[in-house]
Amino acid sequence: MVFDQAAIARRVQDLGQEITRAYPDGELLLIGLLKGCFVFLADLARAIERPLQVDFLVASSYGAGKVSSGEVRLLYEPSVPLADRHILLVEDIIDSGRTLASLMDRLRSRGPRSLAICALLDKRIASPLPDLRFVGFTAPPAFLVGYGLDHAEEFRHLPYIADLS
Ligand code: IMP
Ligand code: MG
Repeated sequence: MVFDQAAIARRVQDLGQEITRAYPDGELLLIGLLKGCFVFLADLARAIERPLQVDFLVASSYGAGKVSSGEVRLLYEPSVPLADRHILLVEDIIDSGRTLASLMDRLRSRGPRSLAICALLDKRIASPLPDLRFVGFTAPPAFLVGYGLDHAEEFRHLPYIADLS
């Protein structure tokens, strides 16, 4: 076990408070990157004490090697205008950071009022992402599963985060 249920719950509550304070005004849209975000986003959204909206991004990487190209095709993105909204992209885990870098360019081109990332876990392998504003935990350099994170679509339902090995 890497992060147990209680530790995750405490950290998510704290993140909710940080995010509540960081956005004193304006419309806030949480955009979850499916599928890995689904558990984290459900808990995080309920820990934020201000009005917000929720939408999702569905991205598909080219080929099997997810880290190799960093090229990402969007299968679904929010259809609402982003221009006058604060956008917070919610991600489960940042590894190389390539998936996010590509998505952020796409979102930025839609001219949001602000654009930032909230990730539950950061392996700190990536060169720092400038828009990574909220991080739950620094993750060990292992393959993690649970709390939304999968290995070949298994283990997403575990209420804690564990090292696959
Ligand atoms: P990146 O583009 O290299 O940062 O890859 C990030 C994506 O790879 C995450 O959204 C996850 O879907 C997946 N990923 C990276 N590390 C892990 C892990 O330890 N467990 C499960 N999925 C992971
Ligand atoms: Mg993912």
